[in-house]
Amino acid sequence: MSWAALIPAAGSGERLGRGPKAAVAVGGLSLLQRAIKTLAPFVDEVIVALPAGLELDAEGARRIGGGATRQQSVLRLLEASTAEHVLIHDAARPFVPAEVIVRVKAAVLETGAASAALPCADTLVREDAGTYGETVERAGTWAVQTPQGFRRSDLLAAHHAALAAGYQATDDAGLLRRCGGQVALVMGDPRTFKVTTPGDLALAEALAARWEA
Ligand code: C5P
Repeated sequence: MSWAALIPAAGSGERLGRGPKAAVAVGGLSLLQRAIKTLAPFVDEVIVALPAGLELDAEGARRIGGGATRQQSVLRLLEASTAEHVLIHDAARPFVPAEVIVRVKAAVLETGAASAALPCADTLVREDAGTYGETVERAGTWAVQTPQGFRRSDLLAAHHAALAAGYQATDDAGLLRRCGGQVALVMGDPRTFKVTTPGDLALAEALAARWEA
């Protein structure tokens, strides 16, 4: 049974404003290097999708060119791999405790597909023209993270179906579900937040000082 870690890292990092996000360093290591180092011990190969024309240090991984959207980058990664199972993980989430990866892999072997996620702790509200609109029942809501794990053939079929139907999804578990699949939720970790804004970067710097990369 073979596993690949597929890392979409071809985003422009617009909201962070520091150039391609995967290249941004925290604690002396780029987000991309952290993602590769974190996942490599759990898989047989690591493939990363990089922005076209960008030479990034991706030691320990095979590189391919990414697409115009995350979904396109993931499809290219799936097509570049021959592994039986895949872990999809955003380069923008540099801190993943080993036990989360172990939980996702175990759930994939048991059920076929799984995503790390965290139960929502905040009150959830839908905006009403800039004001506090209707609250969303919090019980049973989760914030979705990566890694997400799949049988590669299942996720590839879902991506091809999504392409044909014009579906857009911001994550692969959502895409698989939209195509009729079921995805187990497993407990993620608050440290696996996505580095999106300059504030997140400050948090990541603080965490990196205590993290064994
Ligand atoms: O934009 P967002 O933060 O949702 O991106 C999530 C992940 O998808 C990031 O790691 C980013 O580099 C990647 N991505 C990609 N190709 C794109 C856009 C985003 O690989 N065209």
